[in-house]
Amino acid sequence: MTAYMNKLMERITEAAAAAFEAAGYDPCYAKVSISNRPDLCEYQCNGAMAAKKKYGKAPIQIAQDVVANLADNPLLEKAEAVMPGFINLTLAPAAAAAYLNEMAADENLSVEKAAQPKTIMIDYGGPNVAKPLHVGHLRSAIIGESIKRMGRRLGHRVIGDVHLGDWGLQMGLIIAELQDRQPDLPYFDEKITDGYPAEAPFTISELEEIYPSASARSKEDADFREKALQATAQLQAGRPGYRALWKHILDISVADLKKNYRRLNVDFDLWKGESDVQPIIPGMVESMKARGYAHEDQGALIVDISEDTDQKEVPPCIILKSDGAALYTTTDLATIVERMELFHPDEILYVVDKRQDMHFVQVFRCARKTGLVGEDTELNFLGFGTMNGKDGKPFKTREGGVMRLETLISDINQEMYRKIIENRSVRGEDAEQTAEMVGLSAIKYGDLSNQASKDYVFDLERFTSFEGNTGPYILYTIVRIKSILNRYAENKGSSAAGTGHEAVLPPVSAAEKKLMLQTARYNEALEGAFAEHAPHRLCAYIYELSNDFNTFYHETKILTEEDPKRQASWIALLMLVLRVLEDAIDVLGFEAPERM
Ligand code: ARG
Repeated sequence: MTAYMNKLMERITEAAAAAFEAAGYDPCYAKVSISNRPDLCEYQCNGAMAAKKKYGKAPIQIAQDVVANLADNPLLEKAEAVMPGFINLTLAPAAAAAYLNEMAADENLSVEKAAQPKTIMIDYGGPNVAKPLHVGHLRSAIIGESIKRMGRRLGHRVIGDVHLGDWGLQMGLIIAELQDRQPDLPYFDEKITDGYPAEAPFTISELEEIYPSASARSKEDADFREKALQATAQLQAGRPGYRALWKHILDISVADLKKNYRRLNVDFDLWKGESDVQPIIPGMVESMKARGYAHEDQGALIVDISEDTDQKEVPPCIILKSDGAALYTTTDLATIVERMELFHPDEILYVVDKRQDMHFVQVFRCARKTGLVGEDTELNFLGFGTMNGKDGKPFKTREGGVMRLETLISDINQEMYRKIIENRSVRGEDAEQTAEMVGLSAIKYGDLSNQASKDYVFDLERFTSFEGNTGPYILYTIVRIKSILNRYAENKGSSAAGTGHEAVLPPVSAAEKKLMLQTARYNEALEGAFAEHAPHRLCAYIYELSNDFNTFYHETKILTEEDPKRQASWIALLMLVLRVLEDAIDVLGFEAPERM
């Protein structure tokens, strides 16, 4: 059975497979890839070399036999056998045009929806309540959002969960500090157990001042630290006044977080947090004990998870400390229990700083060993590197403090605004909005275009440049295409030629063909990027597409072309390139303005 194949590469592979078979060779050798010698050909197949052993023949002989069976294939313009046994392939111009016309007619741009959609949970964002968002949280939000969108674009059911850090010592610190400052508040009176004010006793800016000063104080003042620890324990034990205060802190923080994430074009389906799964912990721990997985060790409760093949020591998973307190690990395990119950996901993907690698090794092993997840659920960790400053150290403010996300965004937007005003393409309020849009592309593309696991340098100058491998360059390309299309439509008035539903004709120049082939690869690029959780691969694809477009544009006089059919074909090609670019940046999580 030959299934319908959307990808151009699959179709070429299928043609090669038929030729292998016709020549008496196993079609499994027919894998075709993009040529690594673009000066010689567009695609290549190295199967003849691989088949040498099985058939005891010189690879060049096999290659020649196969090529003889490709001569009449309408997909190909040229098929050559080259020493020592390469098969070099060049696509027929008409086949390239036909493929693009098919793609243009498909509202999904020939991107296939998953035949068996998966339920995938992505744990990303990971902000901590009452602490301002800082640049450390930026990468998780940007990368996670893009993977979520890719998955959805490919037809999966993807659920994003922000997984708030809302249960730790930071809560106790705020409560203790507040008690010192405003001891008369009803929350601190143990005789009062309900009917607390609906209004929080602080604003978000006050909260953002209270937490750091409490945190600093706890480092110097042992008594205060003790009070904060006690407050944390009492909160966790359910003291009503503290619970009520905690709820205020949560509500105010979450409202502020939502505002910040909205500015980043990031949104979550679930706003669950560490606190939500606390009720699950006792039962989970009991069951781990009862089934013999967890045992006591120096007062603590642990699960052994080391494996014989470990190169590096993997310490046991501590489930409860000797004082009976649950840990970060325990909370993550309980969260898995809840996620399995509510959604039974096929995959849970954690997008978290790679320095938490060992934590997730422990959580995953423990979850598998104790049967919290079955074999049909994948647990994956996408650990990202650090965003550094130009000095190669984690990004800081000029004063050396932790950089707030809001500050970073407004720095970028200011720089973008300056450039846009310099360009004189947009003015006034429009310029501000445009600066925000382009600024977001600068931040997100600057991040996503790097392999996630690597550290990268945040370079304001480079990220905001309209040239090179940057977000603004991609947007600039989109805006340029839009402007050509607009001018074409104006010239034509409302005549039929302007509809863009003309056919794309076979290419007449090398640059045009290159642009067409790159456009045709969109489905491959998107699927590949998602399969590897690698947004940087989609960035590399659109960068190359933009370059191919700009090269084509510089050598082609589109608007003054005299042959109306040729002109209409180019317009149709541009419309398709535009659709691909806009679809791709939407998946990456940003959008383009009309002008810039
Ligand atoms: N709140 C944590 C932090 O700021 C990140 C949470 C990551 N997600 C998780 N399931 N552990 O470090």
